[in-house]
Amino acid sequence: MENILAPSILAADIMRLGEQIEEVSGAGAKYLHIDVMDGVFVPSLSYGVCVVESIRKSCAMTLDVHLMIVEPERFVEAFAKAGADIITVHLEACVDVRETLDLIHSFGCKAGISIKPETPVEALEEYLEETDLVLIMCVEPGFGGQKYFPESTERIRRTAELIAGKHPDTRLEVDGGITLQNVRTVLEAGADVVVSGSAVFADPASNTEAFMKILREE
Ligand code: DX5
Ligand code: ZN
Repeated sequence: MENILAPSILAADIMRLGEQIEEVSGAGAKYLHIDVMDGVFVPSLSYGVCVVESIRKSCAMTLDVHLMIVEPERFVEAFAKAGADIITVHLEACVDVRETLDLIHSFGCKAGISIKPETPVEALEEYLEETDLVLIMCVEPGFGGQKYFPESTERIRRTAELIAGKHPDTRLEVDGGITLQNVRTVLEAGADVVVSGSAVFADPASNTEAFMKILREE
């Protein structure tokens, strides 16, 4: 499977968002990672449905929507209709995980499950056959610019094994603290979709290019 870069717009300059999206897309990023935070599941607030809708109008990238909200099933339809391609919910936040995955698929979107650093990766196993993407958080969700938790590498490796044994088509995405210095480590552990916010948007075009060079080598 081709390795994919998913720049997180949490670190973008909102006043220049359109321009910066074109820069990361032009330099080879395929997914655009959109972090939705509700101030309850995580301590921060970010943005919601209308931002996805507005980006969709002028962006052909795969819109990778990461819902850090409680009871995400309440908003699946709205994000799907706004133009999300992938909707990822947190295992810890769903009333019923399987029903939520079904709901996401019923709107024609790909379904992802994410887990926080303290949730055992084995909790994902029973859902892998219905899951298009697993998102392993490598920091405590809620803020960009944090430092990668070193124990994440082993979690990525174990998740890659679970995926290989159960449903090899599931993508393995990693998020939080990924930089040009540690991206090889997560790729070698088995990740194939890499989210990066601050390390990309510090200099969108050239940093995307530098990430893509490594992603294509691995
Ligand atoms: C954190 C978000 C991440 C964040 C990543 O809760 O889910 O997507 O934007 O930012 P960096 O790459 O700066 O850690
Ligand atoms: Zn995210």
